[in-house]
Amino acid sequence: MTDGEAGKTILLADDEPGILKLLKTLCEGMGYRTIEASNGFEAVEMTVRFLPDLAIMDGSMPVKSGFEAIQELKANLLTEHIPIVMLTGLQTREDRLKGISAGANDFLTKPVDAEELSLRVRNNLKIKEYHDFLKDHAMILEEQVRKRTMELHRTLDELVKAGELVTQGYLDTIFRLAVVSEYKDEETGTHIKRISYYTKELASTLGMDADFTEGIFHASIMHDIGKVGIPDSILLKPGALSPGEWETMKSHTESGARILSGSNSPYLKMAEAIARSHHERWDGSGYPSGLSGESIPMAARITNIADQYDALRTRRPYKPAFSHAEAVRIITEGDGRTMPRHFDPRILRVFSAHAGRFEEIYEEKKDG
Ligand code: C2E
Ligand code: SIN
Ligand code: SIN
Ligand code: SIN
Ligand code: SIN
Ligand code: FE
Ligand code: FE
Repeated sequence: MTDGEAGKTILLADDEPGILKLLKTLCEGMGYRTIEASNGFEAVEMTVRFLPDLAIMDGSMPVKSGFEAIQELKANLLTEHIPIVMLTGLQTREDRLKGISAGANDFLTKPVDAEELSLRVRNNLKIKEYHDFLKDHAMILEEQVRKRTMELHRTLDELVKAGELVTQGYLDTIFRLAVVSEYKDEETGTHIKRISYYTKELASTLGMDADFTEGIFHASIMHDIGKVGIPDSILLKPGALSPGEWETMKSHTESGARILSGSNSPYLKMAEAIARSHHERWDGSGYPSGLSGESIPMAARITNIADQYDALRTRRPYKPAFSHAEAVRIITEGDGRTMPRHFDPRILRVFSAHAGRFEEIYEEKKDG
């Protein structure tokens, strides 16, 4: 072992000594410390014991495969956030799919190319660094949070634009970013977690397929991610917004969509559509584009009603919490600001028929 860059350690796991040696030479050449395992069993043991900052792992290894090892490490709270780059052969779509479902964060093709390795390693370590930071964000002074959030925001944006990212392993990181965006008006992120459950419930009751239902569960949490750019003076204002403040507030839809744009990940594509269109209304009176009817993406129409129900149930700096019955009444009968014609009639019917499930979800997930 040599002293690594900023003390970072990488676990290398492969059953072929030649590959292990090459990886070691390349990683140490970049200034990182390395530890080695020659099968999946050792890989799990060493990861749990040494908590490396990154693991590079072959898929097929004796004793325990890389796929199994990844699955175990991702199911362990202690190690789930350690990024894992999986080594795959060239013609191995199936291996990649298996790797993704095991929880691999990224892939590296054999034969290993030094430049590609360096890119994957650096990107994944960077994500890990922000992840570690965000884990503690609630304990850090707000000013610092804001500064680092902006940085994260830029990095994520760059990575997504560069077409690196995003395998599903990063959803947790993105979830944490979403929490930060709600941080100022809601500390625990319970609102965005409940949104996942309401939207999934609506999607499955509406008969959407499994991909959509699973997708919206993950994607809807990011609906308000653009609020990260809205100043506290507006977000926390106890009263009504001035016309200028309202214009700024409305921009959270487009800026959220921008943060999430440019990815090939189906989750992020759906999240982008939701962020952009979750305040559009069926009758065309919403924002930012005044879309109406079915030109509003289905996922956004579903998130819209879920978001309103939860916003009504929750105390905001500008409004008190309403009871379940009151929230349902406002959505199904209207109160002037919200009107039934704002909602897709089919979704509104399903909401009315299953409002009891919303109350259950709210009560179950009230405290996180
Ligand atoms: P939010 O607080 O998460 O609210 C989401 C949506 O729930 C609102 O979207 C609105 O459709 C619905 N909603 C929330 N509270 C009420 C309510 O008391 N009555 C009715 N009928 N509907 C309600 P909207 O209007 O597009 O607002 C988007 C975001 O703008 C809100 O997100 C909130 O962050 C902010 N906002 C809206 N109005 C005010 C305000 O008067 N003061 C402040 N400080 N912020 C506001
Ligand atoms: C995870 O899958 O939750 C860990 C990966 C990450 O968020 O960095
Ligand atoms: C979480 O990671 O806890 C939120 C759900 C998700 O993975 O998107
Ligand atoms: C619908 O509009 O009812 C579903 C079609 C879609 O997925 O947008
Ligand atoms: C607001 O409450 O400031 C916005 C009013 C609306 O869109 O109905
Ligand atoms: Fe919103
Ligand atoms: Fe919201």
